[in-house]
Amino acid sequence: MKIRPMHQDDADAVLAIYQAGLDTGHASFETKAPSWAAFDASKLPAHRCVAVDGDGAVTGWVAVCPVSSRPVYAGVVEHSVYVDPTLHGQGVGRALLAAMIASTEAAGIWTIQSGVFPENAASLALHRRAGFRVVGVRERVGRHAAHHGRWRDVMFIERRSPAII
Ligand SMILES: CC(C)(COP(=O)(O)OP(=O)(O)OC[C@H]1O[C@@H](n2cnc3c(N)ncnc32)[C@H](O)[C@@H]1OP(=O)(O)O)[C@@H](O)C(=O)NCCC(=O)NCCS
Repeated sequence: MKIRPMHQDDADAVLAIYQAGLDTGHASFETKAPSWAAFDASKLPAHRCVAVDGDGAVTGWVAVCPVSSRPVYAGVVEHSVYVDPTLHGQGVGRALLAAMIASTEAAGIWTIQSGVFPENAASLALHRRAGFRVVGVRERVGRHAAHHGRWRDVMFIERRSPAII
């Protein structure tokens, strides 16, 4: 496995893996992957990575977006990580998070945050291992179209970099 920067040529594979994650119903409130143009416009170019196998096929991706335009939060981002469902449990997610943490820390970003459904055991385990903590649980914070409009809790997680003091 290799981790490398994401290119425009990766768009189809990235969005297909994104959609497969959304189809689980436990990755995000979204139900449909965005267009490449929308994805490209929302994610910071410097911190997008893909994992590729020995044949060069994309097996997963990670990307971040800013959480606020306020200068005080310039070092706070929200991330997404998605792995090909046929390759879960093989360390791809862990390698992607490690690369994104290294890349953001090198750029002076001090906090990475995300929201995870309590049912997403794999994501919670992955993030705990990568140094994220659960800040709290946002109760019934949104209604999920993929679950017939059911109100869902979201666990708010973050990793505060120990390298930036
Ligand atoms: C969450 C996700 C990215 C994890 O990626 P992955 O490549 O399968 O994870 P890894 O193999 O790198 O596992 C990382 C760690 O989490 C643990 N883990 C992974 N899946 C687990 C599971 N289902 N239950 C318990 N622990 C699990 C692994 O044991 C591993 O721990 P280790 O480092 O001590 O060995 C993947 O399941 C996925 O793409 N899910 C769909 C999209 C999604 O939910 N994204 C996150 C949105 S918040």
